Amino acid sequence: MGLYPKYILPRLIDVGCRNKDARELRKQVLPAAKGHVVEVGIGSALNLPYYSSDVVHLYGIDASSELLQMARQKTENAPFPVTLVNQTAEKIPLRSHSVDTVVMTWVLCSIAQDITALQEMKRILKPNGRLIFLEHGLAPEPKIQFWQNHLTPIWKRMGGGCCLNKKIDELISRAGFRITELHTSYMPGPKPMTYVYRGFAQLDRSP
Ligand SMILES: C[S@@+](CC[C@H](N)C(=O)[O-])C[C@H]1O[C@@H](n2cnc3c(N)ncnc32)[C@H](O)[C@@H]1O
Repeated sequence: MGLYPKYILPRLIDVGCRNKDARELRKQVLPAAKGHVVEVGIGSALNLPYYSSDVVHLYGIDASSELLQMARQKTENAPFPVTLVNQTAEKIPLRSHSVDTVVMTWVLCSIAQDITALQEMKRILKPNGRLIFLEHGLAPEPKIQFWQNHLTPIWKRMGGGCCLNKKIDELISRAGFRITELHTSYMPGPKPMTYVYRGFAQLDRSP
């Protein structure tokens, strides 16, 4: 692995995900997580302060051992047990129907096999479990989409596989989830990078 992905990119991701506007959005969804929670792409564990006392156990999965190392320092004193696993979202090492909540924040953009990963999230959720999502993706305006489509190849190379043009709600539905709440908005910043999808989904045939 080169210097950029090993030493520089994890720090850029950590700093890039820390801003105040992201914190405000995290606050909107994360307190809803409960029970046995899997956070896919936990990164440096920036969501940790927003979990409530309803969390029984947090499993943090991430493909980057460098980001997991940063997460480890924060999770040592967490108010609930935390297990960190260096694994990709496309193959989650947990039993089927064993989890109450799956969380993904700013992750789906960089998962290469996004539908496979979403199907894994579906597999591990209990029938009445819930997916919490907070993701950036394809904007509604054609002129912003033009830039998202044209910038994605270079952005992907610099940003650890991050695509600007994924239609997040469509991917979630295509994987077999039913979206129960969806809010979309721009965060402050350049429009191609800041269109955010936030909400909740359940299994398509949940009670
Ligand atoms: C932009 S960061 C977001 C981190 C964190 N979720 C947050 O909100 O601060 C994206 C994270 O997804 C992880 N990631 C990317 N592709 C992945 C995959 N296929 N499986 C698991 N984690 C992945 C990266 O290592 C990184 O930690």
